[in-house]
Amino acid sequence: MTTPLAKLTQIPPTVAAVADYEVLARERVSPGAWAYLDGGAADEVTARENRAAFARLHLRTRVLRDLSSGNTACELFGTRLRAPILLAPVAYQKLAYPDGELATVLGASAMRMAMVVSTQASVALEEIAREAQTPLWFQLYIQHDRDFTLRLVRRAESAGIRALVVSVDAPISGLRNREQRMGFAFPGGIEPVNLRGLTPSPRAAGETLFDSPLITRAATWRDIENLREATKLPLVLKGIMTAEDAEQALAAGVDGLIVSNHGGRVLDGQPATIEVLPEIAAAVSGRVPILLDGGIRRGGDVFKALALGASAVLVGRAFVHGLAAAGAVGVAHVLRILHAELEATMVLTGCRDIRAISPASIRQAGLRT
Ligand code: LAC
Repeated sequence: MTTPLAKLTQIPPTVAAVADYEVLARERVSPGAWAYLDGGAADEVTARENRAAFARLHLRTRVLRDLSSGNTACELFGTRLRAPILLAPVAYQKLAYPDGELATVLGASAMRMAMVVSTQASVALEEIAREAQTPLWFQLYIQHDRDFTLRLVRRAESAGIRALVVSVDAPISGLRNREQRMGFAFPGGIEPVNLRGLTPSPRAAGETLFDSPLITRAATWRDIENLREATKLPLVLKGIMTAEDAEQALAAGVDGLIVSNHGGRVLDGQPATIEVLPEIAAAVSGRVPILLDGGIRRGGDVFKALALGASAVLVGRAFVHGLAAAGAVGVAHVLRILHAELEATMVLTGCRDIRAISPASIRQAGLRT
């Protein structure tokens, strides 16, 4: 088994793109941690498709426009953001770097990009909040113990969290064959510290999945309605992939949606997120902001998502690769690259601000636009 290389303390001058960090990261974590951090479900078709679908889209450029005093700023749920790029909730970041989420929040703060803290963070959410110089959101998995879940929400509120992101697409973990083949197990010292005190609800031997507490006590739309009553925080549902669920989410009173297939980590066979975004944007019709994640490695991908109806995007593996390679410096550099590429794409397509990015910025194959 190969020993991981030492983490980088400065960035090699040859690093020009987020993809360069993938190589640097892979060499700097154990093969098991890499399988967990980078892998997708089953054959990983969906994980690959998220990226491939971005590559199939082409930009329409407008020239000679006045772009002076343009910028990438936007506003989400009353918070002004420097750019429509957030750090996606990623569990157990200590797998990527010893300081885990504390290094991430440092990198995000340096670039003033908002970060979504995972329920399964390997550092306490209050500790992350203490270090944050940038807006934080909290990702919530509704737990089998609803009182415990509500206490998590109260902790998030007290810590100054600005929005609650409820993941609704993973009542069970994905069947991640890469991890299984590696025999991946969490190393000692890396645990979901925010879930300390939660009584385990194990699956009994021989019990079918459908009869297990994972399913009998899984969240339903009723829980979203209850959560809506229980907190004033903006409520964002993550993992919406159809117009029907978008409608149902709006009926339950949510403030935003995240089009996500969990980076292809849960159910292989789902389409790319960028391919379902137009359907969802049409159904939502501007009533709430839509965010998107999955496959973003370039500022041009951010631009394409905004053009097809997203208000902002989240990046997961992209920043994890920076984290695994070089800690906070790597995270900050990945975000700087994405931001610089977004700016350059806006300039070269003639968009002086985020509002100027529209469906007309994307070539519709086979259509005359
Ligand atoms: C994952 C779960 C923790 O994707 O959300 O690993």
